[in-house]
Amino acid sequence: DNNILILAIESSCDETAASVVENGRNVLSNIISSQIEIHKEFGGVVPEVASRKHIENINDVVMEALYKANISYNELDAIAVTYGPGLVGALLVGINFAKGLSYAWQKPLIGVNHIEGHICANYIENKELQPPFVCLVASGGHTHLVFVKAYGEYEIMGKTRDDAAGEAYDKVARAIGLGYPGGPLIDKVAKLGNREAIRFPRAVIDDNTLDFSFSGLKSAVLNYIHNSEQKKEKIVVEDIAASFQEAVVDVLVEKTIKAAQYKNCNIITLAGGVASNSRLREILQEECNKNNYKLFKPSPIFCTDNGAMIGSASYYKYLKGEFSNSSLNAMPNLEL
Ligand code: KG4
Ligand code: ZN
Repeated sequence: DNNILILAIESSCDETAASVVENGRNVLSNIISSQIEIHKEFGGVVPEVASRKHIENINDVVMEALYKANISYNELDAIAVTYGPGLVGALLVGINFAKGLSYAWQKPLIGVNHIEGHICANYIENKELQPPFVCLVASGGHTHLVFVKAYGEYEIMGKTRDDAAGEAYDKVARAIGLGYPGGPLIDKVAKLGNREAIRFPRAVIDDNTLDFSFSGLKSAVLNYIHNSEQKKEKIVVEDIAASFQEAVVDVLVEKTIKAAQYKNCNIITLAGGVASNSRLREILQEECNKNNYKLFKPSPIFCTDNGAMIGSASYYKYLKGEFSNSSLNAMPNLEL
């Protein structure tokens, strides 16, 4: 039959993940082994520990993905793997495992860009979604506004000049004692706080650019905490979380809407770990309604790192014959 089955592997950061995806959209299995509990102790991802954990987990994760999909390896059409951006040692574990399978099973190898994977996560649950559309990709390592012209064709309209949005969440969470990873914890605690308690700066840079900057906001939060301590004033963690989140979301939403207006495009999508943020989803939906834009957003499990998104992205490369060979290498700083 004409159905294309791809086994996809993702190991760029702290999740060992594998998935079997049919025709880029139909997820037959999606196995994610998170290392969060291990890295929590250190307050962030420790690269060397991540690589070792990937090595311990990858065989089980991949075999479980095949088992849950209820297929045998000979039914696969290709093996896909993330080759960047990410932690070099972590990436190499996935790449070498994928190369081994590709060689042993005689299946073509497809190297996938992690950021492209995040964007393609939108195709999984929205069968009708097709380019062109605008995508806000916000994760721990990246904050990009992308115009998806066609499958696999991307124009970067703006990106962060310093910290990524998720990085700001993680750093602020640490400063207010919430722990790692900060995003989901701030999201939760912010629900109990007053968003207007503290007016943190919105870095809009200037009106003509769609670039972001989050380091000033992060510093403003750290200064606020420091000043409160000096004045012996008690800080209200919930209010700081809610006010910080409001500043981040305001900027992300404003620029995303602008990007759609510039392109005269009425479809907006969300991607990356920060895309699972409840306040971002809520406000962006409101603004899309006002502007008559259609908003697509993956379920949270497809926002944070997973193999299914790599399986989806790889399908469009498969159709174009964009295969890799055994010289595929990790590219920690790969751009979209
Ligand atoms: O996409 P992802 O899993 O990994 C990267 O490619 O970086 O994103 C992880 C980032 C972390 O910074 C995490 O704090 C953030 O996404 N994140 C969130 C939420 N869930 C995860 N940020 C805000 N709100 C959330 N609910
Ligand atoms: Zn990611």
